[in-house]
Amino acid sequence: MNSDIVSYYKDRAKEYEKIYSKPERQNDLLLAGQILKDILADKDVFEIACGTGYWTQKISATAKNILATDINDTVIEVAKSKNYSPAKVVFQTADIFDLINTNKHESLFGGFIWSHIKLQDLNNFIDTVNNLVSDCGTIVFMDNNYVEGSNIAVTDKDDFGNTYQTRVLENGTTHKVLKNFPAEIFVRQLLTDRATEIDFINLQYYWILKYKKI
Ligand SMILES: C[S@@+](CC[C@H](N)C(=O)[O-])C[C@H]1O[C@@H](n2cnc3c(N)ncnc32)[C@H](O)[C@@H]1O
Repeated sequence: MNSDIVSYYKDRAKEYEKIYSKPERQNDLLLAGQILKDILADKDVFEIACGTGYWTQKISATAKNILATDINDTVIEVAKSKNYSPAKVVFQTADIFDLINTNKHESLFGGFIWSHIKLQDLNNFIDTVNNLVSDCGTIVFMDNNYVEGSNIAVTDKDDFGNTYQTRVLENGTTHKVLKNFPAEIFVRQLLTDRATEIDFINLQYYWILKYKKI
């Protein structure tokens, strides 16, 4: 079974947005879109793991400009086929962990990437994203709450407490995908001494985390 998250999303590019058609999630998706548009209004946004640009498009309605990045060309290709307005949106292929010399931005957004970071790597991940943002800049993450019947079941757990799902792509390949569902208290603990003005918004199917880098 394949457990490489990067190649999993590379091969999922064309079918990725089906996840946003789940009927029970539509209200939350509308609400989340509005929350993100409000938080990132008039901002210069650096987006990590932008995927097919689903959230890039929503945010482009209010942001000033967006530099949207992802490690996979296949998803960037789908993202580039969409229209974005009125924000100026530029796409770039980039690995989050290889962006050390990038110019700092006023804000950063990462949708559904937190859950794919191993628990033991989260400290490094937060330091890395904080480094991409100017002092007092705004950082926003969005990810899934685990809701029985709506999410794919967790099928594995490792010694660190990371949880995994077994997912099948339309090409018939099976993947063991790292997918963590953090509790608010755990997220707040991780941000100790690294953030101020922490806001953790819990919807039914999603959570949105907003904080300011110290
Ligand atoms: C769950 S998808 C989220 C896509 C998009 N943000 C959304 O919410 O619709 C996770 C994305 O992370 C990207 N990714 C995984 N590892 C990455 C890394 N090290 N650097 C940049 N992007 C990465 C994948 O290619 C994939 O597009």
